[in-house]
Amino acid sequence: FAFTPANLDWAKAQITKYPEGRQASAVIPLLWRAQEQEGWLSRPAIEYVADMLGMAYIRVLEVASFYFMFQLQPVGSVAHIQVCGTTSCMICGAEDLIAVCREKIAPKPHQLSADGKLSWEEVECLGSCSNAPMAQIGKDYYEDLTAESFARIIDDLASGKVPVPGPQNGRYAAEPKGGLT
Ligand code: FES
Repeated sequence: FAFTPANLDWAKAQITKYPEGRQASAVIPLLWRAQEQEGWLSRPAIEYVADMLGMAYIRVLEVASFYFMFQLQPVGSVAHIQVCGTTSCMICGAEDLIAVCREKIAPKPHQLSADGKLSWEEVECLGSCSNAPMAQIGKDYYEDLTAESFARIIDDLASGKVPVPGPQNGRYAAEPKGGLT
């Protein structure tokens, strides 16, 4: 693994934002850029970032394995779907969404679909509890899901369509009324 010339320039610029000797502070942005370049973080990619920052491989792996925004295995070429399984979503039907993933994508999390386009996993709270149950796909949130609406979204992704993110039942938060009273 090596950064493209453009990504290498960008990475060097990130490192200069931090004081001398503190270049390890750039670990998350560099891992993120490496993942954007390759789709996931391979061992060579993590080693490359570690070398750039003068960090031990294990220290960088600790960071990469802590956050579920980082993928340590290959993901679907079209989308990796993260279903929230924490309390609000669990109570409101996350199990039904996971059943849809098992049926339509692959029986186990982190497995690729037969065509390699999709993958899925269950993750912890994504901070959209009031619109539970929900899933993150790429950088978008899909909220107020039902098994039916979620199945349609997965079918759309598999057939090359881009499903519309946001609450799937049209429920948005109320307009602010202004002031604190
Ligand atoms: Fe699912 Fe918070 S519990 S978004």
